[in-house]
Amino acid sequence: MVKIPIAIVGAGGMGGRHLRALKTLYDSGMSNIELIAICDTRKDNAIRLANLAESMLNSRPLVFTQMEKMKKERPDILAVDITTDSGSHHHVAQMAFNLGYNVLCEKPLSITIKGCNKVIEAWKSSGKVLSVAEQERRDPICRLNKALLDVGVIGDPYSFLLGSARGSRDIIILPWRHNKNSGGIFVDAGVHIVDQMMYYLGDIEEVFATSKIWEPKRYKGKKIGVSNFYDHWVKEIPDEIDATSEDMVISTLKFKNGAVGQWTSFFAAHGEPLEYGMIYGSKGSLEPAKQRRGNPLTITLDNGEIITGDQVLELVPDFHLDELTSRLFGSDRLGSYDAPFEDADKFLVALEYYELGQCIADGVKPEVDAYVGRKDLAVCNAALESSILGRSVTIKEIENEETSVYESSINEHWKI
Ligand SMILES: NC(=O)c1ccc[n+]([C@@H]2O[C@H](COP(=O)([O-])OP(=O)(O)OC[C@H]3O[C@@H](n4cnc5c(N)ncnc54)[C@H](O)[C@@H]3O)[C@@H](O)[C@H]2O)c1
Repeated sequence: MVKIPIAIVGAGGMGGRHLRALKTLYDSGMSNIELIAICDTRKDNAIRLANLAESMLNSRPLVFTQMEKMKKERPDILAVDITTDSGSHHHVAQMAFNLGYNVLCEKPLSITIKGCNKVIEAWKSSGKVLSVAEQERRDPICRLNKALLDVGVIGDPYSFLLGSARGSRDIIILPWRHNKNSGGIFVDAGVHIVDQMMYYLGDIEEVFATSKIWEPKRYKGKKIGVSNFYDHWVKEIPDEIDATSEDMVISTLKFKNGAVGQWTSFFAAHGEPLEYGMIYGSKGSLEPAKQRRGNPLTITLDNGEIITGDQVLELVPDFHLDELTSRLFGSDRLGSYDAPFEDADKFLVALEYYELGQCIADGVKPEVDAYVGRKDLAVCNAALESSILGRSVTIKEIENEETSVYESSINEHWKI
């Protein structure tokens, strides 16, 4: 199989997770990607990831601090995997296209729509591949959620009720997730949630929302985040920071198909954490399985029948996972799985890498392309815009930059 030479650009927490995914792809017997270099403006981070890569992949990637230099010294590298922090994506992605790279860009594509539109312009004139690294929908149980909705198991969708409440006043992962100019935690987590909602029910057209910053000061907590992926940087986190990005957004969403959603995203909740999700249709409800947990989903029908676990597979006899997903998770038809979060995480990112290789080598279209990536952000930004304007906001207005009060200060900050 042809192996596409790539570089990871951004050697922080997610850069490390992408490296684990590459190792998974290498070991799968279906690898179509080869890591040649790591580039990070922080040389210590780049060296650290290169050391890890050497121990995991038995071959040491080169280290760079500038993409331009990397391009000059290794013109054979065909693609960059951008895992820099979100506020830099518009800049790094545009530079990558100008240098002639294909791009896999971590979500969000940019933290502003203007930034997304600039990246889209650069991508279009480059003729290269742009794939947005949105992995959650690739989870086998999320694929199953979608297949069941598509065959109409719960009838016509009426409503999607979804929410989570947690966070207190702790710094969530790293300080940049509380800074409006870097993409706050609402956008950081929200694009994933929006992507799933639209994957299941189709496009969202209009949003009405209220947002708040309840905790303008955040403090270093005992635990800083996802698994142990960020342990290396714990000592760099200050004891206290100012938070300038929203920690609560409550939204009403109108889907194009007529369904209505209610989405609560609350990162300053004290006391008991809460997480819920339910899709209601004309014949019953589907409690979608959460990604990377492996738990079964549950369907409840009007006649009182409750269908869960492997039983739901009988409702979708034609449902099959693709070859690499089946290899990694162990079957092409799964009602649940018991891989730990860390393993599921690397399997899903490995799928993104594999698709990138297929896009470059075989002209396959990325599942989460520039327009899907932009729409995921547009729904989040529409909620923030709506809260400022005190009216509902359409996704079309946001994508066309007809209203951009919320993001204007971010665009000014980054000179977008
Ligand atoms: N898909 C997911 O599940 C998921 C999970 C976590 C993070 N992410 C995304 O991954 C991205 C990175 O997040 P993180 O938590 O790893 O951040 P991080 O702060 O841990 O790492 C970012 C790295 O990028 C480097 N960097 C910044 N600007 C750069 C530039 N111009 N050129 C080269 N390197 C640069 C930094 O020095 C740092 O090493 C974010 O966009 C985030 O939203 C996605």
